[in-house]
Amino acid sequence: MLNGWFITVEGGEGAGKTTIVDKVEHFFKDHGFDVMRTREPGGIKIAEKIREVILDVTHTEMDERTEALLYAAARRQHLIEKVLPALKEGKIVICDRFIDSSLAYQGIARGIGLEEVLAINEFAIEGCYPGLTLYFDVDPKVGLARISSDSEREVNRLDKEKLDFHEKVKDGYDKVNHMYPERIQVINANHSIEDVFQQVMHAITMHDQYKRLKEMNEQ
Ligand code: TMP
Repeated sequence: MLNGWFITVEGGEGAGKTTIVDKVEHFFKDHGFDVMRTREPGGIKIAEKIREVILDVTHTEMDERTEALLYAAARRQHLIEKVLPALKEGKIVICDRFIDSSLAYQGIARGIGLEEVLAINEFAIEGCYPGLTLYFDVDPKVGLARISSDSEREVNRLDKEKLDFHEKVKDGYDKVNHMYPERIQVINANHSIEDVFQQVMHAITMHDQYKRLKEMNEQ
């Protein structure tokens, strides 16, 4: 029985997810919610090691299906070891990236196909879909300009892809949004931090699971 709330955050490079999720985490903590923040690929020892293998800039020979399988393997281990136990304890879990990243990046941008990437991911997650997904929709040109001006950000193998790849990622997310209109809330991330945060808070506070958890907290 899962009592918590599984929220995932998605978007292309430079969508500003981290800044906004910092603020959301503060909001939850300030209002007495038990929140756990994590990320994919990574979040636990085995998955962080898989992350190193996937994102190593020297691994240029990596086959796209190998890449998809590694993301799915990291996802499975992270879900079992970290996300599900936290949800069982009633926590709000905010995870930076989940299945939709694989659908958009590997399924569409790498060209493997949505159905095949969905199949290996369904094997990995066994029906544990997020309750809410916040998709930060940003123009790839704006996103890439943001990451190139951020000197502290780690540069990974996928950042080295050209604008054309990041445009395909955006097309991928547009397709995935149509597949899951109930679960995925689209946030216009081209605007200021304050504006984007307002949109995110609207999506969170209007959600039934937020209302349920808030009521439980107040009892
Ligand atoms: P990030 O942690 O900086 O977002 O970097 C992770 C990179 O991995 C990012 O470029 C998106 C990519 N990615 C995929 O291609 N597929 C996936 O399933 C996940 C979780 C991430």
